[in-house]
Amino acid sequence: MQETLIQIKNEAMSMIVSAEADEIEQIYISFLGKKGKLTNAMKEIPSLPIEERSEIGRLANEIKSTLEEQIKDKRMELKKNRSNPAQEEKTNRKYIPNDNSPVDITMPGNLPPLGSLHLVTQAIREITSIFEKIGFTRVRYPEVEYDWYAFGSLNFPQNHPARDDWETFFVDLPADSKKGNILLTPHTSSGQVREMERVLKNIGARQDGLYAEPGLSIKMLNIAKCYRRQSDVSHTQMFHQFEGLVVGENITIAHLKGVLEYFVKSYFGEKRTFRIRPYHFQFTEPSFEIDISCGVCMGRGCRLCKGGWLEMGGSGMVHPNVLKAGNIDPDKYTGFAFGWGVERVLMMKEGLKIDDLRLLYSNDLEFLEQF
Ligand code: DAH
Repeated sequence: MQETLIQIKNEAMSMIVSAEADEIEQIYISFLGKKGKLTNAMKEIPSLPIEERSEIGRLANEIKSTLEEQIKDKRMELKKNRSNPAQEEKTNRKYIPNDNSPVDITMPGNLPPLGSLHLVTQAIREITSIFEKIGFTRVRYPEVEYDWYAFGSLNFPQNHPARDDWETFFVDLPADSKKGNILLTPHTSSGQVREMERVLKNIGARQDGLYAEPGLSIKMLNIAKCYRRQSDVSHTQMFHQFEGLVVGENITIAHLKGVLEYFVKSYFGEKRTFRIRPYHFQFTEPSFEIDISCGVCMGRGCRLCKGGWLEMGGSGMVHPNVLKAGNIDPDKYTGFAFGWGVERVLMMKEGLKIDDLRLLYSNDLEFLEQF
């Protein structure tokens, strides 16, 4: 009898483990249903010799609850796989039967849920590795920042209405006499002058007067959280930008175009192209907006894009006043900068159709587990 029960269990277990969605209910019926194999075997227990009855009874009950539990888990797993086919591979296991022990140590346990990196973290890592390959240094600057770094040093005159475009959150703390109000940084451009200060300090530059010695080189990649008062399908109040800043002797728009082309091909793929449109930013002159060909219609024009193009963000040649604010002589040095949204480039990647950006930060596991 004991052998029969163990055989039934092994047979049921190997069927449960490899069951497809349309098979699991049938397996339940054929083992645990009214006329199921285990149910039938259990009906014979009362007629066993009295000394065997209690031990066999206990074994049969144990097997029954194991099978019930395994079937319940399998139902859940199959339901999950239906909404997330990628998970299937992680949970597909084989059952190796062990014929002679009532305690089966080869029985698969329950896998703990497997986590993965958040979509935005994955994008930040990918962007970082693309720029590190061409010599950019990843840096981070404060999220809670002075007006001076976010606006003043970037050539925004005091009370200039352009400050309003950034819809900034101000922090309720007394302003610094030199660096002004305290705010949540609305863009990663706030790292530009901080980076100039860091590099000059590193090479031991004198503090008086603008730096005009030869050999200065800045290649910054600042990726950080930014905050603006905005929330709709394509905006969240907290989002991420990645900012590039290159300063050196004889840096021109050609260098900007080269880096842009390299990034577009590396991140979006060989088929995508870009265009540069004239624009205005206070801190670059000339300034541009960069558009990427739409990954859905490949530039032909569709519902998702503007005539085949998607806006990626701003860039331009660093304004001489910004170099001066960072103590660098604009007659000797030039540079270019760009600032693009991490969530935005992510959404522009081929094949990803997220129609509400706020989903990224809603902590909805059904959404997050897909990546
Ligand atoms: N900081 C700008 C924004 O948030 C984007 C930007 C434009 C960054 C031009 C730059 C730049 O570095 O050169 O909208």
